Amino acid sequence: MNSRIDQRTVPVRTLHGGEKIPCMGLGTFGSDKYDADTVSEAVYGAIKYGYRLIDCAAVYQNEDRIGKVLQRLFAEKEVEREDLFITSKVWNDMHGDGQVLESCQKSLSDLGLDYLDLYFVHWPFPNYHAPGCSGDSRNPDSRPFSVEEFMGVWRQCEELVDKGLVRYIGMSNMTIPKLEAVLPLCRIQPAALEMELHPSFQQPELFAYAQEHNILPIGYCPIGSPSRPERDRTAEDVEDMRLPAIEAAARAHQVHPAVICLKWAVQRGQIPIPFSIKEAQYISNLKCVTEDPLTEEEMEAIRAEDKNCRLVKGQVFLWEGSGGWEDLWDPDGVIVTG
Ligand SMILES: NC(=O)c1ccc[n+]([C@@H]2O[C@H](COP(=O)([O-])OP(=O)(O)OC[C@H]3O[C@@H](n4cnc5c(N)ncnc54)[C@H](OP(=O)(O)O)[C@@H]3O)[C@@H](O)[C@H]2O)c1
Repeated sequence: MNSRIDQRTVPVRTLHGGEKIPCMGLGTFGSDKYDADTVSEAVYGAIKYGYRLIDCAAVYQNEDRIGKVLQRLFAEKEVEREDLFITSKVWNDMHGDGQVLESCQKSLSDLGLDYLDLYFVHWPFPNYHAPGCSGDSRNPDSRPFSVEEFMGVWRQCEELVDKGLVRYIGMSNMTIPKLEAVLPLCRIQPAALEMELHPSFQQPELFAYAQEHNILPIGYCPIGSPSRPERDRTAEDVEDMRLPAIEAAARAHQVHPAVICLKWAVQRGQIPIPFSIKEAQYISNLKCVTEDPLTEEEMEAIRAEDKNCRLVKGQVFLWEGSGGWEDLWDPDGVIVTG
């Protein structure tokens, strides 16, 4: 087994309120490619190496397995609960009255924890689709975003904080118009915004908006999700690891292009949550942010590679009468209400 990283060398980010959390986490969505045992063994190895932030979700269908490895790590005295920052998310089919509490309690029980550090509303729509369904499947009950419905979910999240079941709450897959509509109504402000962020999809306006509002941007698909399921791929998708500025920096630093995507993410100020089940990969992913930073010129060259290339389009959440997947993301700066 590898050595452990020196925690003091891992940069940190500051949550509203002043608490420090690591600048990188580990994703746990196996993308239909890796089963729950494989993912949870990677969580075990990654925490042993020095990962402290783990991004979980009920819909990833592996929280019970991850719970087992957390208990193993506690029993082996590798880490204590307080050393870790564990997130989870309420899925779209659990937005109704009382269901957010039920979902949170199920995640807590599966993970074997008394509290979560951060709990996200995974998507701002109550629209359900079966895990693994094809991209063109639609649910006739799907509805567009509603401020009232979303606030019903958020109020339940606020109660989880009141009950001491979660320490912070966050939103995911939001847009500026949606945030503008809901932030003034929140009793407890979101601590973090989980959003797709990688070199070909930098979302500069939403990223800046989050930072201006003291909301930590957590970036998913930071390497461009090269293992995502076939059903989530389109001919227009750009491969981040083949962008000229990424390849040039990889050559200059003698590292894999994946590592350049992560150095860029951390130096820009978001918290990337790369997924990997391979020890050599997850070690190099965390190690790379402790050494040999990108130059200002390299950062600028990567900034210029933005292609507005969204990979997770979310088309399965569309409602009857909607246009294309863009409608989920309020393309004209106003909430698309259907
Ligand atoms: N909030 C949301 O709605 C949402 C949506 C999507 C994802 N997420 C979260 O974000 C996490 C990350 O997203 P993601 O898994 O889609 O994409 P990703 O982290 O961009 O890509 C993961 C893949 O990159 C490859 N990789 C990782 N490290 C590497 C390295 N050092 N060298 C070469 N290749 C490397 C691996 O491919 P191989 O396995 O083929 O080697 C791995 O499976 C998820 O696991 C999940 O926790 C959240």
